Amino acid sequence: MCPVETATDQAVPEVMTQSDYYKIADTVLPGGGLGGYSLPEDVRFVIKKGLGSRLQDVNGNWHIDYVGGAGALIIGHAFPSVVDAVSEAAPKGIHFFGTLNHYAIKLAEELVNAIPCAEKIAYATTGSEATFYAMRIARAYTGRDKVLKCEGGYHGNHDYSTFSVSPRAVSNFPVGQPDTAGMPANLTENVLISPYNDLDAVREIVKSNKDELAAIIVEPAQRIIFPKDGYLEGLREICSDNDILLIFDEVVTGFRLAYGGAQTYFGVKPDLASYGKIVGGGGPVACVGGSKEIMEQCNPVNRGKDNYAYINGTLHGNPVGCAAGLATLEELRSPGFYDQLHSRSEEIQRRCQEVLDNHKIPALAIGRGSLWQIVFMEKEPENFGDFIQADMAATRELDLCQMRHGLYVLPSVRRFVSSVHTDQDLEDTVKALDAACKDVK
Ligand SMILES: Cc1ncc(COP(=O)(O)O)c(C=O)c1O
Repeated sequence: MCPVETATDQAVPEVMTQSDYYKIADTVLPGGGLGGYSLPEDVRFVIKKGLGSRLQDVNGNWHIDYVGGAGALIIGHAFPSVVDAVSEAAPKGIHFFGTLNHYAIKLAEELVNAIPCAEKIAYATTGSEATFYAMRIARAYTGRDKVLKCEGGYHGNHDYSTFSVSPRAVSNFPVGQPDTAGMPANLTENVLISPYNDLDAVREIVKSNKDELAAIIVEPAQRIIFPKDGYLEGLREICSDNDILLIFDEVVTGFRLAYGGAQTYFGVKPDLASYGKIVGGGGPVACVGGSKEIMEQCNPVNRGKDNYAYINGTLHGNPVGCAAGLATLEELRSPGFYDQLHSRSEEIQRRCQEVLDNHKIPALAIGRGSLWQIVFMEKEPENFGDFIQADMAATRELDLCQMRHGLYVLPSVRRFVSSVHTDQDLEDTVKALDAACKDVK
């Protein structure tokens, strides 16, 4: 079943075909795509529109969307109250700069109410910018340079993040491996790497770098790997004992695992946290939050002082993005929202595991909440070292086959379930996986 097209949709003739679009895209975009994914010809498509849980391509085919705008769209595409909020905000001005607007103030107030560690937030435009600022504020506050991150942890596209996200060689902890060309060589000494879920390794690295470490930054649930009991509490304790700031990168987990984020879900409070994606409801909104004392580092009154941390950006507090964020958060506050979302996602995950088992495909549907993924492994990974034992080629192939049967998933990437995935989506997903399993066999 596909979302119903309106009369207006049908009245608009498609003037360009998908191959017309590809011709232009292949000429003007590197790899003919957007960003880091290179999809085979037979599965890539050009989106005409998104509605609820599905996307329609310009050829008229519908795809069940588990990419969800990289996780930003927890209530699906074009959710009516979000569209209304954007339609109300946009005619009053799409963009301002330098001084306040209603939507930016109201969203900041809601974020401070909801995020346990945040007495103040500072806006950013993307999750990458928010983690970059969190690290900068931590360095300004402590007067130290080094940051510890986990192998396999992703904190965005900037130079302090693109270390050992997917290292190509066996890791020599705590030395990081750049994930991209173009990284300044001397940065390696300032970004240290630990395996995820390993407190002993963290203790060891902290012991040797105690006076130089500004912060530990961690995805509370790293990609599709959840923390072992006591891991986040252990990081909290190590940071407090050594005057190091603990940063949670909540760009994915924020308002996805629970209202407020992983801090609420796991009950562990970091010193700083970065948010993106859901807080902007699909618009260009992200933020970093922390205590009044720590966030004072970026009070512009201190501009010119030694410990002032510069935060500023053209789109910060963008009114249309903040309006979309406010409308999204209002939906998430509906009673039972997270229980329903999680049980829908767990049902999809469970039914997909049954399909894999029926076909004797040696893969697991792993994950929690509304995040899950199929990986060719025998047991759940605890860290990146475990994760790369998975048969990645098989994972990619099975994902591509599911794309050919109508799912929009990115190969080898976790899936984001939204609150508008329906019973019909569940049944169609199971059918698509069943057909994909037959293909790969
Ligand atoms: C945990 C995490 N942090 C940071 C980012 C970067 O966010 P953005 O792509 O908005 O820059 C991402 C993006 O997926 C992410 O997953």
